[in-house]
Amino acid sequence: MIKFEKVVKRYNDKDQPAVDELDLHIGKGEICMLVGPSGCGKTTTMKMINKLIKATSGKIYIDGQDIEKVDPIKLRLDIGYVIQDTGLFPHMTIAENIATVPQEKGWDRNKIRNRVDELLELMDLDPENFRDKKPKDLSGGQKQRVGVARALAADPPIMLMDEPFGALDPITRGKLQDEFLRIQEKIGKTIVFVTHDIDEALKMGDKIVVMRDGKVVQFGSPTEILSEPADDFVSELIGGNSNLKMMKLMKCKDIMREIPYVEATTTTEQALKVIKESDVNNLLVTEHGQKLLGYVSIGMLYRNENKIVGDFVRPIGETATPKTTLQDVLSDMFALGRKTIFVSGMKGRVDGIVTMDDLLKAVRDDDQTS
Ligand SMILES: Nc1ncnc2c1ncn2[C@@H]1O[C@H](COP(=O)(O)OP(=O)(O)O)[C@@H](O)[C@H]1O
Ligand SMILES: [Mg+2]
Repeated sequence: MIKFEKVVKRYNDKDQPAVDELDLHIGKGEICMLVGPSGCGKTTTMKMINKLIKATSGKIYIDGQDIEKVDPIKLRLDIGYVIQDTGLFPHMTIAENIATVPQEKGWDRNKIRNRVDELLELMDLDPENFRDKKPKDLSGGQKQRVGVARALAADPPIMLMDEPFGALDPITRGKLQDEFLRIQEKIGKTIVFVTHDIDEALKMGDKIVVMRDGKVVQFGSPTEILSEPADDFVSELIGGNSNLKMMKLMKCKDIMREIPYVEATTTTEQALKVIKESDVNNLLVTEHGQKLLGYVSIGMLYRNENKIVGDFVRPIGETATPKTTLQDVLSDMFALGRKTIFVSGMKGRVDGIVTMDDLLKAVRDDDQTS
């Protein structure tokens, strides 16, 4: 989708280049985080994509097209842009601010009005209440939501976001991050997102580009960056507690294991055979292949010779969902005093199981920094 080839940016002939022979490939529908210390070239890299800054040498392609050949005004109409201080026009209403690009694109008034309301709702801002307000009447978080709405207005395939939540307090920032991830699941934009906050990069990114002195130090998924930092610079950026960070990132669906089903009429001996052939220590027990009665564990089977599992089946109890983070599962295990938790998806169906051992295994390869 977006491709950098040996891109260099020199602000002054004598100086070190701000961006130095950068090669980068950003996939369609991905959130790509540019992260690194202040002055490492993140903003410069981003601004070369919409030609707010002209590359000194090298090529940038969008969808295979060399952007050098695209008119910058036209290019920018198809690239949403969100910055830290929102850049909202203070004299215009919220609706007028959001409508900027659609207006430039010549949409008719009705279509613009509908789109503005739709976006305000998407951003959880009541259109009735916010449409006619001015930016100064809004809180920082609300202004930033409007900034995002404005960037999305004409439905551009690409969004550039330069520390968009950087000026917000931690609670508001966390809320906007969550909201934005939820929205992105629906809209699937290709997003380049600049941050100096590694935790934000780990949370938001499908891919992370770690930069230093205008160069890429590491490119990978958040779990790759956490589990195999390329060098001491990346390790230091990640900081301590990388195991805990990994557990915050990984979800039950990443590690859960399937559990075999047996009928309530299955004998203990048959059930033991099934359990030994599987790689888990629990079986689900159903009635007529339909109704889930609960589970039996290997320990329960050993204690209940010459019975059928329906005699001693236990209820499933509290479950996690496939999207529950490992951190939350661990905390549930502590709260419930259990070493296993079942994972259930839709309609109470049980999809798998996560054990304390699974949690340990998931993060064990990842203790370089702790
Ligand atoms: N307009 C400019 N003129 C000269 N130097 C600049 C200009 N903008 C940025 N720089 C320099 O380029 C380097 C990269 O800056 P920038 O891309 O803004 O970094 P980041 O966004 O990672 O903080 C820095 O050394 C910065 O001082
Ligand atoms: Mg910057």
